Amino acid sequence: SLDLVSPDLFRYKRKNFLVRDKLRPKDLDDLQHVDIRPTDIFLITYPKSGTAWMQQILVKIMEAAQPDWVEDATNRVRVPWLEERTADNPFRERPDPRIFGSHLPPDMLPKGVKDKRVKVVYVWRNPKDVLVSLYHFAQSWVMLDSPKSFGDFFQQFLNGNAYMGSWFDHVREYYAAQDQLDILWVQYESMLKDLRGEVVKVCAFLGKNLTDEAIDHVVEMSTFKNMKADPKANYKDLIETNRYKKETMRKGVAGDWKNFFTVAQNEHFDKVFEEKMSDLPLTCVWEI
Ligand code: A3P
Repeated sequence: SLDLVSPDLFRYKRKNFLVRDKLRPKDLDDLQHVDIRPTDIFLITYPKSGTAWMQQILVKIMEAAQPDWVEDATNRVRVPWLEERTADNPFRERPDPRIFGSHLPPDMLPKGVKDKRVKVVYVWRNPKDVLVSLYHFAQSWVMLDSPKSFGDFFQQFLNGNAYMGSWFDHVREYYAAQDQLDILWVQYESMLKDLRGEVVKVCAFLGKNLTDEAIDHVVEMSTFKNMKADPKANYKDLIETNRYKKETMRKGVAGDWKNFFTVAQNEHFDKVFEEKMSDLPLTCVWEI
């Protein structure tokens, strides 16, 4: 029987997974043994931190670097979700380099990610905007229950009872695992401020030497406006198939939390943040 934290989520290894998904603790354990290749790339995030954005960037970098990687399919197919389905998922047969998305914490990743020094791109975002984005996503994704109110969800998030568990733990666990992984940290807000600069860093990390024109193209394809209009990147097919009720390309800004947090909620959040994160040298960007 599942350890339920709410009707839609069960807890396993201090993380919260989807009751309505097929994935069960045994399947999660099996993921540790997925056959990993040294050329694999992992895109890892806490939910709503810029996953789809980095998917697009990685796809466009790879298309420029390796024209035989070009393919007429959505990013969801091309950067498949590691933990989305159970063991026999054919996505494992994708052409090299395979790019996997995942929200798993470091200790639940396939062992090969560490053993083979696979490249990991970790995208993180200020948790106030993550909270607001996830609040909206919970109203959209049929896998999750709609929050009763913003105040309810605010508390659920701070208590680590939202999808995937605590934001604080996720970031802390990746911070602590840095030496065991070949990891590049990319801040969502840095991409907002200087998308080209961050694309250049990702290229260098992946060892992809693109021309200036090719980099310009990656950047152009990865703007909020272009992605929102790009059916391969905007996840609208999931609206058509009734899995999402709303667009995931929602606002794409830093500081939207100011439209949702009360002064008291903000003070409370800051206090919790200080308690949980002040010993790490990570600086959130709360608004731009
Ligand atoms: P908002 O809900 O705040 O708008 P994920 O892909 O991890 O689920 O994250 C979704 C968030 O990333 C959404 O945030 C979405 O709008 C934002 N996003 C996606 N593509 C983006 C882009 N090109 N530029 C800025 N934000 C983007």
